[in-house]
Amino acid sequence: MGDGREVGEGFDRAAEEYDEVLLHNRQGAARLVAALPPGRYDEILDVGCGTGFVSEEMVSRFGTARVTGVDPSAGMLERFREKLTGLSAEATLIQAGVHEMPVPEGAFDAVVSGMAFHWFPDKPAAVEAMARRLRPGGVLGILAAGTGTDEEFRRVLEGIEPAVPQAWLEVFPLIHRSAGQLADYMEQAGLEVVDVWEERRVRRAVPEAYLARINAVASHLSADLDPAEAAAHGERVMQGVVDAAGPRGFEYAFVKLFGVGRRPA
Ligand SMILES: C[S@@+](CC[C@H](N)C(=O)[O-])C[C@H]1O[C@@H](n2cnc3c(N)ncnc32)[C@H](O)[C@@H]1O
Repeated sequence: MGDGREVGEGFDRAAEEYDEVLLHNRQGAARLVAALPPGRYDEILDVGCGTGFVSEEMVSRFGTARVTGVDPSAGMLERFREKLTGLSAEATLIQAGVHEMPVPEGAFDAVVSGMAFHWFPDKPAAVEAMARRLRPGGVLGILAAGTGTDEEFRRVLEGIEPAVPQAWLEVFPLIHRSAGQLADYMEQAGLEVVDVWEERRVRRAVPEAYLARINAVASHLSADLDPAEAAAHGERVMQGVVDAAGPRGFEYAFVKLFGVGRRPA
């Protein structure tokens, strides 16, 4: 099973600009944490923690005392580490993917994961791995990109000649899931489904800003390409997005998929 290394290396390259380019993810983390049932969440595990958006929100809302953050990207963990002096919680940051994380089972009041689930290689197994780390009565909170996200961009990619790498088109169904699928994974992992929902937003962005986000989250898909070839594809993609944009920018859908589950007490 993949250990998240390739995706993690993509995020290493993006780590420096991540907090500026991915402001929407900070807002998503706040909404995920706001949706957790009231309770004591002293000890939490943040899977795919990146630069720490969800952990920061947990400390802010619940006064969480101890955070364990797991992520395969050394660069993202480094950015998180830089913030730790401002975080009023103890933190242990571990470089690992969800399927191999060396953290104890049955130990956490909450396991949270913000905008990382879509990159997990085996999604039912990932939910199971996170559920196992909960103490009885503990809560799992997941935020991910849902089915339908960036569909307009996929259509732009399909129309480009010469064709973009197949992996760029195949990634959409591989990563995105619906609310029904997430609920099934939680039930299969022995959790009570507290709430699962999708928020579909239509956004507009200037082509450069839109592609800056895509590059920040998906650069691993170009890692194996010859740099000149990657640059040529990049120029055609930019032109495709510019052509598809209207006077108010490139319009695209973003579906945020939320799931909250509880391990039976
Ligand atoms: C878009 S960032 C989200 C970071 C942060 N949770 C947030 O809300 O902003 C996705 C993160 O998932 C991590 N990731 C990718 N594959 C992973 C895996 N298999 N296991 C755990 N984390 C993974 C990446 O390294 C990256 O830091």
